[in-house]
Amino acid sequence: MAYEVETNMKVLGIMGSPRKQSNTEILLDKALEGAGEAGAEVEKVLVSKLKISPCLEIYACRKDGNCAIKDDMQLLYKKLLEADHVIFASPMFFYGVTSQAKAIIDRCQALWVRKHVLGMGKEDKRERRGVFISVGATRGAKLFDGAVLTVKYFFDAIGVKYSGDLLVRGIDNKAQIKEHPTALKDAFRLGQELVCGK
Ligand SMILES: Cc1cc2nc3c(=O)[nH]c(=O)nc-3n(C[C@H](O)[C@H](O)[C@H](O)COP(=O)(O)O)c2cc1C
Repeated sequence: MAYEVETNMKVLGIMGSPRKQSNTEILLDKALEGAGEAGAEVEKVLVSKLKISPCLEIYACRKDGNCAIKDDMQLLYKKLLEADHVIFASPMFFYGVTSQAKAIIDRCQALWVRKHVLGMGKEDKRERRGVFISVGATRGAKLFDGAVLTVKYFFDAIGVKYSGDLLVRGIDNKAQIKEHPTALKDAFRLGQELVCGK
């Protein structure tokens, strides 16, 4: 089915794997391709290329919603707030997202403070959505439970509704996802549907 939107919608993809040609990046690229084909302007950020400190719990953000740590997160805050929709992608590392991805999430405490403590951002009436993409080597039923919860609360902090996910078990080797019978198509559709509001 062909989907298309008319507006200049922006979709931001965050790639949380440190590996080159990672399974996560292959899926994210497909999802962004789907979003792009549906008419969105897409951008991908690789966490391994960014210098992002963990949250230091200084709580300077309680004053005005701004984080005191001046690193690459400052640009990412801007991108996260500008994006209409977000695709967050990370492999499973010890039943959670990678530490690089988690540093971004934790630093969004500043955006949580803006929304829940300072009451900022109420004028933004966009229906922003987010989806989560993940892969893991094992096959347990609870493999993604912890990470899904983390990403749901992350999306809430940045004012994005968790609207879907693609969680693929049994994927371990570099680029192994290419051999999966359905995952690439599913990722493409996830990106399309994110833009079209399915
Ligand atoms: C530090 C580390 C921790 C991992 N922890 C888990 C885990 O808890 N559960 C799991 O199923 N796979 C785990 N894996 C395997 C990766 O999730 C798997 O290899 C995945 O395909 C990597 O995705 P990528 O190619 O996108 O980086 C771990 C791998 C590493 C390097």
